[in-house]
Amino acid sequence: MNKIFKMMAPLFFMTMLFGQSGFRNLQVLDKNISKDDLKATMNSFSDYLDVKCSFCHILDEYYKDDKEHKRVAREMIHLTKMIRKNGAQYFSKEYKTEEFTCYTCHNGSAEIKPYNPDEDWP
Ligand code: HEC
Ligand code: HEC
Repeated sequence: MNKIFKMMAPLFFMTMLFGQSGFRNLQVLDKNISKDDLKATMNSFSDYLDVKCSFCHILDEYYKDDKEHKRVAREMIHLTKMIRKNGAQYFSKEYKTEEFTCYTCHNGSAEIKPYNPDEDWP
């Protein structure tokens, strides 16, 4: 037991030191996401909504939750995950649920109007 611990301990501490991404306030995304993956995710949000980082963030203080848009975006990540996970319920068999992204609804625009059946019915 003791021997195993001694063997494993360096591994454990290495993971703590180098394995963690160092991001401080990830509540929805994987806390151990790599820097590259987080970058790609953030770039995709900016593209999907056609906004700059500052739409959701105070620049250089990315961990802060001061901006309403960041807090909404968190809910939207939940929503997107949920729809993907239960894709079989909503989409035809041919539809690839991994193609379901923010873009599916936002289509390159941050401010979209939810469908209103009273006004928008053709
Ligand atoms: C549509 C909103 C949105 C846009 C645009 C956006 N982000 Fe984010 N960002 C978020 C959200 C939401 C989180 C927190 C995710 C979570 O809680 O898991 C986050 C987290 C981060 C973090 C981690 C901070 C920490 O330490 O916890 C960094 C760094 C970051 N974003 C950088 C960027 C950069 C750089 C850009 C522009 C290329 C960008 N973001 C664009 C919404 C956005
Ligand atoms: C199922 C459709 C759908 C998906 C998927 C979706 N959104 Fe949204 N989003 C909306 C709707 C509808 C609104 C407007 C809600 C309102 O006005 O109350 C909105 C609003 C927002 C806002 C607030 C914009 C503003 O100007 O106040 C942000 C930020 C946002 N979404 C980010 C995201 C991000 C990031 C993703 C992907 C992780 C995403 N959304 C995925 C439908 C969606």
